Amino acid sequence: ACCRVLHVGILLLIVYSTAALNDYQSKRYNKFKNQHHNPGMRATDCDSVINDRNISETNTGLCKWTNTFITTTLGQINAVCPRNGGGLITSNNPFTFVECKLNSGNNRPKPPNCMYKVLQPPRFAKRIVIGCEAGFPMHFERCE
Ligand SMILES: *[C@@H]1O[C@H](CO)[C@@H](O)[C@H](O)[C@H]1NC(C)=O
Repeated sequence: ACCRVLHVGILLLIVYSTAALNDYQSKRYNKFKNQHHNPGMRATDCDSVINDRNISETNTGLCKWTNTFITTTLGQINAVCPRNGGGLITSNNPFTFVECKLNSGNNRPKPPNCMYKVLQPPRFAKRIVIGCEAGFPMHFERCE
């Protein structure tokens, strides 16, 4: 019985933990997840994921020149942010990721017609630099 209560408690914590975010922050957090989180993704998935998720450059709507997907769990990424805190944070640990680079000249298409290069090696690990607010990632800055 103790453990069932504990499980429900943990579940509620996970479900409600983003409640502290305002509408604008929730939108940005969702956009961060859409653009930069995809557990287990392979480099050969760049085209399908970016087009399926309709990821484009803000303002122009064109295919982004580059886009990076962190391939770990969301919990591991969220844990980089200070509890309830913000700022530009560099992770202590390296993260696996896939970096997609646009394979196109000056005439950039829009999703669903984006075509990306497959970079080798497809998966390696680097520290990530992310912008946090209220304890959640809002912005991907770079890998380093
Ligand atoms: C894709 O994103 C663009 C720009 O945000 C938007 O205008 C368009 O309606 C979206 N298309 C789909 C199929 O969701």
